[in-house]
Amino acid sequence: LSVSQIDALILHARHLKYRGSWLERPNSLDPRASEARVLPSLSLQHKTIALLFSKRSTRTRLSAETATTQLGGRALFLGKDDIQLGVNESVRDSAMVISGMCEGIFARVGDHSEIEELAQYSRVPVVNALSSLWHPMQVLADLLTLCERRDFLKDPSIVERDRKWTLTHSLNALRPLTVAYVGDSANVLHDMLVSYPRLGHQLRVASPEDARYRAPKAVWDRVVALGCDKNIFWTKDPREAVHGADVVVTDTWISMGQEAEKEQRLKDFEGYQVTEQLCREGGANPNWKFLHCLPRKPHEVDDAVCFRSYPTPSSPNPYPHKLHRVDNVTSQVFYGPRSLVWREADNRKWTTMAVFDQLFGRWMLRGRPAIS
Ligand code: CP
Ligand code: NVA
Repeated sequence: LSVSQIDALILHARHLKYRGSWLERPNSLDPRASEARVLPSLSLQHKTIALLFSKRSTRTRLSAETATTQLGGRALFLGKDDIQLGVNESVRDSAMVISGMCEGIFARVGDHSEIEELAQYSRVPVVNALSSLWHPMQVLADLLTLCERRDFLKDPSIVERDRKWTLTHSLNALRPLTVAYVGDSANVLHDMLVSYPRLGHQLRVASPEDARYRAPKAVWDRVVALGCDKNIFWTKDPREAVHGADVVVTDTWISMGQEAEKEQRLKDFEGYQVTEQLCREGGANPNWKFLHCLPRKPHEVDDAVCFRSYPTPSSPNPYPHKLHRVDNVTSQVFYGPRSLVWREADNRKWTTMAVFDQLFGRWMLRGRPAIS
């Protein structure tokens, strides 16, 4: 997506959210309710969107199903145990068949090449719902979340001055932000790398030095081609990364499909947990906010795994035989006032709705002749 396309989608998502929120309260006595009581577009009426998911999902699936319903369409969930794909049928053949009957495909795949192949052979638009390399839908929701923060605006007084500013301003209202990402170089970060710098924000990333935790060549080539590398600072030191950060972001250290690497990864990411102390010592903006795409899963491990941080000579482990929990963020941060994670999750619906409306909603499957 170009910068103007991203901006248009975020603005469209804000319109949908504003209207959708009021629609949910049709009897509201608030005078704003009447002006917003406009039905959102029914652009998916009589259309079916295939949700092709080969991996688990809560937010992405829910956002797609609820957004499709609200746009008047039907979402058809096709999990990996439901259809022939991957067992008795190839990606190419499945793409031909599914795109013959549905008006759009929203696909969560394993290797990124699978979604490329789907797009190559599909006769209808294909949207990436997460692949090994990218997670574009997440970053749209994150951007919408940032736009909703008064403290991130160039001119915070606009919120009082112009009641409808939310419908006219989107990414252009944000001041240049410093965004820190602490953790694995995975799909969510990769989309941040190709979007935030183009929108005028500085990205500071901390990940271990090992090549497997750094952006793969296909991703970095894209970062460079878009000129984003000039606004990215990469270090192995989380303290250095959070310096000056307005927003601190993390994602799981063990993405779906990497479960076999769990022990190694938990060792390698020791010290990368997002904590109040880390951000204080690293010199983050005192009002820093926290984003996490979710899901969040603490891991129970024993000392054999977390041998480096605990015990140390000055701080012996008082419970040497007990398991302890390892996580990429503390509960203090995750559930605390800095955390925007629930709003971020809610916003998945509105950005997905904007994408579906703009892309699937404007697509008509041309009738094919019965006999040829
Ligand atoms: N953030 C996200 O994509 O969550 P799900 O895996 O639950 O869809
Ligand atoms: N990096 C994570 C994102 C989950 C939404 C994964 O791929 O599992």
